[in-house]
Amino acid sequence: MCGIVAYVGDRTAYPIIIKGLQRLEYRGYDSAGLALVNDGVHVYKCKGKVKDLEEHAKGKSISGSIGIGHTRWATHGEPSDNNAHPHVSQNGKFIVVHNGIIENYSHLKKELINRGYSFKSDTDTEVLANLIENIYLEEKVDAEIAVRYALTKVVGAYGLVITCTDEEDKLIAARKGSPLVIGVGEKEYFLASDATPIVEYTDQVIYMNDEEVAVINKDNLTLKSIQNDSKKPKIQKVSLSIDEIDKGPYEHFMLKEIYEQPLSIEDTFRGRISMDHSKIFLGGIIDVLPQITQANRIIILACGTSWHAGLVGEYLFEEFARIPVEVEYASEFRYRNPVINKDDVIIAISQSGETADTLAAIKMAKEQGATILGICNVAGSSIPRETHAGVYTHAGPEIGVASTKAFTSQVTVLTMMSMLLGKTRGFLSKEEYTHLVGELTQIPDKIRTILQADDEIKKISETYQHATNALYLGRGYLFPVALEGALKLKEISYIHAEGYPAAEMKHGPIALIDENMPVFVLATKDKSYEKIVSNIQEVKARNGKVIAIVTKGDEVIKKMADHVIEVPDCHEAVAPLLTVIPLQFISYHIAVMRGCNVDQPRNLAKSVTVE
Ligand code: F6R
Repeated sequence: MCGIVAYVGDRTAYPIIIKGLQRLEYRGYDSAGLALVNDGVHVYKCKGKVKDLEEHAKGKSISGSIGIGHTRWATHGEPSDNNAHPHVSQNGKFIVVHNGIIENYSHLKKELINRGYSFKSDTDTEVLANLIENIYLEEKVDAEIAVRYALTKVVGAYGLVITCTDEEDKLIAARKGSPLVIGVGEKEYFLASDATPIVEYTDQVIYMNDEEVAVINKDNLTLKSIQNDSKKPKIQKVSLSIDEIDKGPYEHFMLKEIYEQPLSIEDTFRGRISMDHSKIFLGGIIDVLPQITQANRIIILACGTSWHAGLVGEYLFEEFARIPVEVEYASEFRYRNPVINKDDVIIAISQSGETADTLAAIKMAKEQGATILGICNVAGSSIPRETHAGVYTHAGPEIGVASTKAFTSQVTVLTMMSMLLGKTRGFLSKEEYTHLVGELTQIPDKIRTILQADDEIKKISETYQHATNALYLGRGYLFPVALEGALKLKEISYIHAEGYPAAEMKHGPIALIDENMPVFVLATKDKSYEKIVSNIQEVKARNGKVIAIVTKGDEVIKKMADHVIEVPDCHEAVAPLLTVIPLQFISYHIAVMRGCNVDQPRNLAKSVTVE
């Protein structure tokens, strides 16, 4: 949700910032801008994507070895040239790029208007730029002090990089709630919302913490709290390679990420499962294993696709570990005054580790004494830093806005956790446990088989590319997959789609079924197979079009359905990991056929750092 890039050093800043913004474009892509320090500050910004910004800056002065850049996902104010960042304060002293939301901006704006300020944009960021400038001019203090003082008046979330025209050699950065990473080079520093724009230049990074302010010139970095306490920067090595953040031979990141799943799942369980399948070792939760084993209840908190993974977790934990589970939308949970006990274990699931609602919900639960675990993909992000313990998914960077490989890696972690707890709590025998672990380890190869059916799935997708609605049905472990399939279709192809537990169809959605309604049914062989076969018959009786995801060799459903897509046989508990793959492909192909921007769907952003 908005991406920030900045540079200070001896190189030309412009290409570093443009390339960095392209890498961060998945965070927001409705407008882009940059400011370059070169005998004064030159600001270029426009509505549109980073390539529009490049076009806009063509032929203009782009020299300078200090600069800040921004790619925006609109919160306050529509996407427009004026609302694009950077924002310049009224007297031109401060230039600001910002990711986050200043919640008390209208109050601050009124105060500034009373002091003679006027505003060119509708953004909260311009308010901040003017607030800093007002303090700077009235109090006659250094830029850094003005920034820190202004931030004490601000309620909300921010990742900020600021330059001051009177102190041109430095950048001032601050963070609260929205991520900011500093890359440390030889007499140069890079700043960005995540490490992807930085790894090309250095693998040494500092993850800024909340309420920290960094003052950086090419020779020096000082880190403080907003209250002016000195902080020691903790430099870490980032293990991200450039290949991981390139599209390679694929047309879109989403397609690349679908294809990566055999490997990303292997990466998720690598080193965590013994060769003979008799042990699962999750080092990140070992210290809290006693609390988890004795938990009265598990509460899973997440949003979107991660919430769907959480629902799969509910089936797994209740089946194998016999612990009651509640799966909550973090946004509802945090505002509901929920009952949280000390014996509750909270599991927050988040690909980005930055989702504002999930972060706020776990902070609240932590205050009430619960044990908090995280399942996150981005190392060093905010959620893992708030939790008591957790397991990284190690799926590698997910750039496509529609989540694919992060989902399957989250489900893989939940599967391992539930089996481990099942064994520790005595609900799984040694044989059952070893068998189940073996089933999990076979998943990557089984996915490889499904990937080979891509062309066939593409043909099926062609038939439904003009659909205006779609229904997704599943039961048991596959109900959350139905929800996920529907979400994938709507978010990237803009076709209205609903996921339902198949039995619920009769309680309403069946009224929608006619010859124009594609119904995707998850119908692999499991304990509710007979029931889902009946559901398919009910759809066919109303002339609906059935696209069934079935177990290889299923002849019964083949006779009833309009199309079948086969997946290899597996234990029902790991079936979500297989059945979701054809649904990802279908959404992808339909979106491409409809000419949609698959990696950057309209109105969406990859990491939702505002509530
Ligand atoms: C959908 C999607 C979103 C995210 C949601 C939570 O494809 O990606 O629904 O799952 O915004 O994001 P994280 O997992 O980063 O907390």
